[in-house]
Amino acid sequence: MSEEKDKDSNVQEFKLDPDTELRFEVESKNEKVSLELKSGMAEVFGTELVKGKAYIFTFGAKIAVFTWQGCTVELKGKTDVVYIAKETPMVMYLNAHAAMEQLRRKAESEGGRGPIAMVVGPTDVGKSTVCRLLLNYAVRMGRRPVFVDLDVGQGQISIPGTIGALLVERPATVEEGFSQQAPLVYHYGHKSPGNNPALYNMLVSRLAEVIQERMGANRKGDSIADCFLQ
Ligand SMILES: Nc1ncnc2c1ncn2[C@@H]1O[C@H](COP(=O)(O)OP(=O)(O)OP(=O)(O)O)[C@@H](O)[C@H]1O
Ligand SMILES: [Mg+2]
Repeated sequence: MSEEKDKDSNVQEFKLDPDTELRFEVESKNEKVSLELKSGMAEVFGTELVKGKAYIFTFGAKIAVFTWQGCTVELKGKTDVVYIAKETPMVMYLNAHAAMEQLRRKAESEGGRGPIAMVVGPTDVGKSTVCRLLLNYAVRMGRRPVFVDLDVGQGQISIPGTIGALLVERPATVEEGFSQQAPLVYHYGHKSPGNNPALYNMLVSRLAEVIQERMGANRKGDSIADCFLQ
């Protein structure tokens, strides 16, 4: 690893070894940080970076730029936190992806349903990010996974107070995430499942039925549901 910092212009260049990641956070309001891949290959939560393209991140962004092969990246702008991590969860994520891919192949050859993974854990541990990464890896292999969002506190697919599902046909964009063109959304109206468990369960069952019907009707389009709950 080597790092050059030009204090005046806030330009930093990083050479990343294979299997390492550059993590940075934008903590100042009104600050924009631009990321550019100079050479090699790298990805952000499963989406490949295009060489020479400037990706812009604003207040609150927490980003990890991972490289399997090694690369050079440049950051422009004020980053309050920036470091290279040699220990990353990427091999675990890749193993989870490989296990699911095996199940998809099995389903394909036997005519069954693809795997369903449910991601559950405490707040702010990276659940949404794991979903994004697994969805990206699946869609990059030509699969068409379904992302299911059961977290009524946050509402990643729509707004808080809703649950929803999204057929993923393209990788997430680095800055904006997955295309939200045609989500399936159910209105629940509270920020916690505990406010009305009967209604919550009914909506989840209804959503599950609709997804199962679609998965059944579209065997070729592969079918995984990544859910996340709090
Ligand atoms: N492997 C990682 N390396 C660096 N940053 C990460 C990683 N995974 C997640 N993050 C960052 O940590 C923050 C929390 O991640 P994420 O939103 O995925 O967590 P969550 O468990 O879904 O949170 P919530 O409970 O709020 O839904 C995000 O800003 C994300 O960019
Ligand atoms: Mg989340």
